[in-house]
Amino acid sequence: MFDFKYYTPTKVIFGKGAEAKTAELIKEFGGSRVLVHYGTGSVIRTGLLKKVTDILDNAGIFYVTLGGAVPNPRLGLVYEGIDLCRREGVDFILAVGGGSAIDSAKAIGYGAANDGDVWDFYENKRKPSGSLPIGVILTIAATGSEMIDSSVITKEDGLLKRGCNSDYCRPKFAIMNPELTMTLPDYQTACGCADIMMHTMERYFTCGGNMEITDSVAEGLLRTVMKNAKILVKEPKNYNARAEVMWAGSLSHNGLTGCGSDGGDWTPHKMEHEIGGLFDVAHGAGLAAVWGSWARYVYKDCLPRFKRFAVNVMGVENKGSDEEIALKGIEAMEAFYREINMPTNLRELGVDATDEQLSEMAKKCAQGVGGETGSAKRLKEADMLAIYKACR
Ligand code: NZQ
Ligand code: ZN
Repeated sequence: MFDFKYYTPTKVIFGKGAEAKTAELIKEFGGSRVLVHYGTGSVIRTGLLKKVTDILDNAGIFYVTLGGAVPNPRLGLVYEGIDLCRREGVDFILAVGGGSAIDSAKAIGYGAANDGDVWDFYENKRKPSGSLPIGVILTIAATGSEMIDSSVITKEDGLLKRGCNSDYCRPKFAIMNPELTMTLPDYQTACGCADIMMHTMERYFTCGGNMEITDSVAEGLLRTVMKNAKILVKEPKNYNARAEVMWAGSLSHNGLTGCGSDGGDWTPHKMEHEIGGLFDVAHGAGLAAVWGSWARYVYKDCLPRFKRFAVNVMGVENKGSDEEIALKGIEAMEAFYREINMPTNLRELGVDATDEQLSEMAKKCAQGVGGETGSAKRLKEADMLAIYKACR
């Protein structure tokens, strides 16, 4: 077990009608001039945006709105948001939506509170020294961005998808009403479940410093998400299943399932970010597409963890060699992906990548991680290329 820091300052308001608390919470955290930031229109169609702006109107809180945060949110809109914040003297950003609107809001928050080009933070050239405070009304359970310290943005030039981590951007509050996720397309619900599970799996498959309590939480979380993801395939309006998945999404990525480990592996995420950058796929589906090939490539180097996962999470019988059990666990995970209509390779993801594109992704991925990455197994550019080829 390694030493660790656990810091989750976000105030969570969870349950039916929780968005009614929006104005109160903004005031509690000192907001008086608000940028309401959202995605490409779902919050208009569902009526949530109108509901929120009515709440702000009634509370006498000044606001401006900016929509347009696309899945894999773009740097161009971030610049636009920063200008708007400066022009209007914005002192609080309210993200209404999913990971894309939240991450875009975080980037705008950095840009408005720091001089220079905000992209420097995403290229790791400089560290931010502050951010405008952020609040969140979550509409999709997936990224955990509502509690985590990270933001992922795509730069149009070169289609570079990069993340920035700092405690400054951790949301002050997160409003989570599971009912708000009931309008999601089934595909997005499943993508969210895949992403939630992967945030814990990335932390689980390590070769360093594991801790029993953390493993138990992680395994329980994974079993819970699988069970409820399957329920949601048949009953998308099941409130309890929505609620279980939504809270799991936050717990999966707020650091809880990584306490005591070496920080996790994160190669599937790094590899997905290149797929998402180049082909603009939904993040969770991209993860599902790459995971099986990654797992088969690395499992022998992290055998005790893959065996434990197979038995404790996937319910594989503890019979046969460790390798056989581990492989059955990987197969069972892929069967689960199919059951919730997630892809298990690039073709099923709808990506028809050429050899050149796979090489480009492997190269960019290796560059982005400084040459090599991973805990289950250390991987370099050649390994990444082999995995991309295996999942084509
Ligand atoms: O854009 P709108 O119109 O809002 O539609 C969205 C979008 O099309 C729609 N949607 C969201 N809530 C809805 C809804 N449609 C109907 N009803 C609702 N209630 O769903 C689609 C996906 O939304 P998005 O915000 O893109 O999804 P998600 O939360 O999965 O965010 C994905 C982004 O977050 C990044 C991903 O890479 C991707 O760019 N990630 C951020 C992380 C972080 N900050 O820590 C970690 C993750 O690993 C991930 O990398
Ligand atoms: Zn993710």
